[in-house]
Amino acid sequence: MTSRRPLHLTVHLVGAASGVHPGAWRWPASDPHTFASIDRWVQAARTAERGLLDAVFLSDVPGLWGDITDHPQEAYFLEPTLVLTAIARATSRIGLIGTASTSFNEPYNIARRFQSLDLISHGRAGWNTVTTFVPVVAENFGGAGIAERPDRYGRGNEFTDVVRALWASWQPGALLADVATGRFTDAERLRPVHHHGEHFDVRGPLPLPPSEQGHPVIFQAGASEPGRDLAARTADAVFSGATTTETARAYAADIRARAAAYGRDPASIAILPGLMTSIGSTEAEAAARLERLDELAYRDGDLARLAARLHLDVATLDPDRPIPPRSLPPLGIEGAVDVLDAGLLERAHRGLTVRALLRPRWTGHLVAAGTPEHVADVIEHWHRVGAADGFTLMPDVIADGLPAFVDHVLPILRRRGLWPHEYGEATLRERLGLPLPDGARQAREAREARR
Ligand SMILES: Cc1cc2nc3c(=O)[nH]c(=O)nc-3n(C[C@H](O)[C@H](O)[C@H](O)COP(=O)(O)O)c2cc1C
Repeated sequence: MTSRRPLHLTVHLVGAASGVHPGAWRWPASDPHTFASIDRWVQAARTAERGLLDAVFLSDVPGLWGDITDHPQEAYFLEPTLVLTAIARATSRIGLIGTASTSFNEPYNIARRFQSLDLISHGRAGWNTVTTFVPVVAENFGGAGIAERPDRYGRGNEFTDVVRALWASWQPGALLADVATGRFTDAERLRPVHHHGEHFDVRGPLPLPPSEQGHPVIFQAGASEPGRDLAARTADAVFSGATTTETARAYAADIRARAAAYGRDPASIAILPGLMTSIGSTEAEAAARLERLDELAYRDGDLARLAARLHLDVATLDPDRPIPPRSLPPLGIEGAVDVLDAGLLERAHRGLTVRALLRPRWTGHLVAAGTPEHVADVIEHWHRVGAADGFTLMPDVIADGLPAFVDHVLPILRRRGLWPHEYGEATLRERLGLPLPDGARQAREAREARR
């Protein structure tokens, strides 16, 4: 079963725009100050736009977490909607997707902030709704701890409903801006929300009319039961993590079945798994690139950190040998290791050497490392067998890995008839094949009239 959609590609400006590989920030082509350099973020977005990518995607966790003494890739620095606003002014077609947490914001703020971005960018904004699972973040917001998953998603669902209601609070025709009559709005068409729920009380309406795509597109990336449910209920597009076509297809089938149960058209949801790319002009060059990146990622403390994560004595670890299974914590027992280290434990049990375990984690996502033809083959195959409607690209290093994708992989996809020669639709919603809400038409007419 081929995906019924044209191929979609977004790029995750991962690692604060350095790249997904932990060695990316030290790579010769990178600038180690990229995380705070808006020029670098804009440069990456322009490269993506040169390739006609559907969107740039910025993830976010509102707090400093992970060990950033030598691995800044795991940190989130600049606030996404501010970065996307700067990118909006330096680009004209590419979509702008930002992440914002439903646990550590109020829905009115998020509805207003993203609708503002949508108006500023003429209908190119997307909101990635996340509930945030990182415990230390809660300590920045009153310290009550991260809620259990059902509660997080309970709030996330209500939050997303309120945001949607606020985005719909200007009915078509509410904005008049009529100089001749002196009437600016038709108050009858402004709909307060009057939401009173378990988590929020919101009157509305928003102070903003619809944009040229109506309102931002909603993205989600839930893996758990309640996460999948939120995606199926509210998301226009889904980021997923899958490493085989079988798991990707099972995930997509599950999301679509849940969407159908909510009365939605299951085919309307675009499912875009993450795809890590590492490109060289030959297989040998690609392998050497990864090896060099792995070296740059290796820090003196890594062996000790690995030992600590697996609850082992560092003196017992021999880099060239696997860890004997009897010394490892058992598999499948909750709490045996930190939840983020479950993949590491599983690889240790599979008998990988300590050196292999020390290689940077590429967990949970599909990896395409090799020549441009190889990367194009992976993309074509997954799309052809219906495992993906497209991908969320995660280049190893943004500075030269994203241009390599645009200049060497996309021409192959174009030759195969899988990638366009020019941008089609102007708004992100239309490019993803989603219907436009009524209010969008008026915003377009107003824009045309101003031209
Ligand atoms: C491509 C991708 C990007 C994600 N970006 C973020 C993010 O920026 N912030 C965040 O808190 N979680 C992010 N997540 C995590 C998801 O929102 C979700 O919490 C995770 O997949 C676990 O699913 P669950 O919450 O249903 O257990 C991302 C997940 C994926 C697959």
